[in-house]
Amino acid sequence: MAETAYVSIKGVIAGYGGGDVLKGVEFDVPHGGVTCIVGPNGSGKSTLLKTVSGLVRPRLGEIWFKGHNLVGMSPKEILGLGVVQVPQNHSLFREMTVDENVELGAFLVKDKKVIESRMNAVREMFPIIVERANDKAGSLSGGQQRLVEFARCLMLEPDLVVLDEPSMGLDPKTLKIMFNTIKMMNSMGRTVLLVEQNARQALKMSHFGVVLENGKVRLSGTGTDVLNNPEIGALYLGGSIEETKHAS
Ligand SMILES: Nc1ncnc2c1ncn2[C@@H]1O[C@H](COP(=O)(O)OP(=O)(O)OP(=O)(O)O)[C@@H](O)[C@H]1O
Ligand SMILES: [Mg+2]
Repeated sequence: MAETAYVSIKGVIAGYGGGDVLKGVEFDVPHGGVTCIVGPNGSGKSTLLKTVSGLVRPRLGEIWFKGHNLVGMSPKEILGLGVVQVPQNHSLFREMTVDENVELGAFLVKDKKVIESRMNAVREMFPIIVERANDKAGSLSGGQQRLVEFARCLMLEPDLVVLDEPSMGLDPKTLKIMFNTIKMMNSMGRTVLLVEQNARQALKMSHFGVVLENGKVRLSGTGTDVLNNPEIGALYLGGSIEETKHAS
């Protein structure tokens, strides 16, 4: 993995009108890696991801990607640069089939042959979208829907995949499949920026970790550095007494 910054977040201040949620966030997302943001509920993790994908416009600060400042660009323009976000809440059209949902991911692609070849590529990665192709998306389990959302986001062949708590509500088996899928997307050359409550497991597979607390970066470093920080372990990683006793 190259250590060059792929996304450079500089002094980002953002909120929803009732005070600032992000209070000067600053860090780099390395190119080609998995970067994981952890932190308590309400610390601004989802808001931060939304500033990257253009759904929330910062009041101040810059977010640099491929020579563009994303701040002020529309979500569609940002999508066009190769940034695709899978949101925290399930986002499939429940009354549409799995196939239709996946194909929607390629809405910016006009060439039918390209769409078909990408459909075939994601079918190989996610057997579920073949098995359940003609079923309504709403009839799938939460974990299966998550995988369909991944498949849909890959239809744009994104350079940067932004995932907000992909493991939320998944059973342990699907959780494993989901984490393996993230590793696979990354090994295919996609840079991944994700938020995870399942912090210990996520940081283990991440090259870079960021702890967000009350709208500011409390700590950042390699995934292992963050994982092994005794204070952080006790506070945010749900560390067992066994795992965190060196902290006391
Ligand atoms: N659309 C919104 N309008 C107004 N306030 C919002 C909105 N979305 C989030 N907030 C507020 O912004 C703060 C940060 O929320 P955010 O969703 O970014 O946190 P989070 O770290 O993702 O939390 P969680 O772990 O619960 O997902 C919270 O106080 C929340 O209530
Ligand atoms: Mg959130």
